[in-house]
Amino acid sequence: MAKRWRVGLVGVGRGSGYGKLFAEEPRCEVVACCDLSPQALARFQKELHLPDSGCFTDYAKFVQSGLDIVFVGTPMPVHADQTVVALEAGCAVLSEVTAASTVEDCKRIVDAVRRTGKPYMLAENCIYWHFVAQWKEWVASGRLGEIVHAECEYLHPIPTLIYDRATGVKKWRFTRAPLHYCTHSLGPILEMTGDRIVRACGLGQGHRVMPEAPIGGIDMQIGLFETAKGMSIKILRTSVLPREPAIHYYVLHGTKGFVESSRVGVGNPGLLYVVGEMKTHQAIEVPMNDPSLPESARAGGHGTAEYSLIHDFLGSLERGETPRLDVKRAMDMTVPGLVAHESAMKGGVWLDVPALA
Ligand SMILES: NC(=O)c1ccc[n+]([C@@H]2O[C@H](COP(=O)([O-])OP(=O)(O)OC[C@H]3O[C@@H](n4cnc5c(N)ncnc54)[C@H](O)[C@@H]3O)[C@@H](O)[C@H]2O)c1
Repeated sequence: MAKRWRVGLVGVGRGSGYGKLFAEEPRCEVVACCDLSPQALARFQKELHLPDSGCFTDYAKFVQSGLDIVFVGTPMPVHADQTVVALEAGCAVLSEVTAASTVEDCKRIVDAVRRTGKPYMLAENCIYWHFVAQWKEWVASGRLGEIVHAECEYLHPIPTLIYDRATGVKKWRFTRAPLHYCTHSLGPILEMTGDRIVRACGLGQGHRVMPEAPIGGIDMQIGLFETAKGMSIKILRTSVLPREPAIHYYVLHGTKGFVESSRVGVGNPGLLYVVGEMKTHQAIEVPMNDPSLPESARAGGHGTAEYSLIHDFLGSLERGETPRLDVKRAMDMTVPGLVAHESAMKGGVWLDVPALA
């Protein structure tokens, strides 16, 4: 029988969804979990049916427990430390988004991947929504002409995950700027166009809705970007302003047409217009799920995205290939948001986005 990958998961929230998918995957064996909180760890243990010997509150002991793959599902500020330790222990790392909270931490991850030669992949699940592959094909075939401009939005009010007004408890998102959480938006655009961002400009410092949280509670941030191929991208992000329903939104404008997802969220009908193919726009499906996959493939939390992501990651490990969302693409998708927030704090100056890998 082919090798079974020994998988360990840290951070119960996102670890749960990925844990279920890894547990269902015949090529993998979930052997360990880790969480700082004993209550969270107990929940993790129960969900994954693990013995006490496979459960850790001490991350250093967890990574030394004979793992091939570590899934990092902890808060963003912890990603860099945990990723570096796991790579140095000889594990492949699949990390939740975004790669890290600072450019310095991103550099540490890049250095660790180079030094250890171990595989690293960013678990940017939105890239694995079904429509992204279809739009990517349209871009590659030239159906929309040259892509000139793209827009993306992630508007999702989660105030209680930032600050608990009743108790005064600050959550880890208290210090996470809206623009820092950019990979769900920029990721699919960069995946479809194969481009990378070279300059960024950000706006948005006000915090009217949640004045207690001066960074995590910024009302709304806008990022403008220029890419190496010369296109422009606009991103809109909020974690606090009322928005029903919460949405992910994407639009690509090319020299021959445009494609756009729905204003009430992906999964709903979008629009397509291509010069010469149709007189006016057409309603199109913007499917999140791969219809060829079974119902059980939806356990990850966002339709079939996490299932497809895991399969892509395992395939790259088995073939000894660089994962699709390797350290270079992880930083191409993470660093622009860090730089755009820095720009917003400086009043909107244009700043270069460094290529880290
Ligand atoms: N891809 C997605 O769709 C998606 C959705 C939600 C969250 N996320 C990402 O998942 C990550 C976790 O977010 P969340 O909402 O689950 O956070 P959370 O705060 O709900 O859970 C994090 C867990 O990690 C544990 N933890 C914190 N520090 C730790 C440490 N040093 N060692 C071990 N355990 C530690 C906490 O006890 C907690 O159980 C973040 O990076 C976030 O951006 C991604």
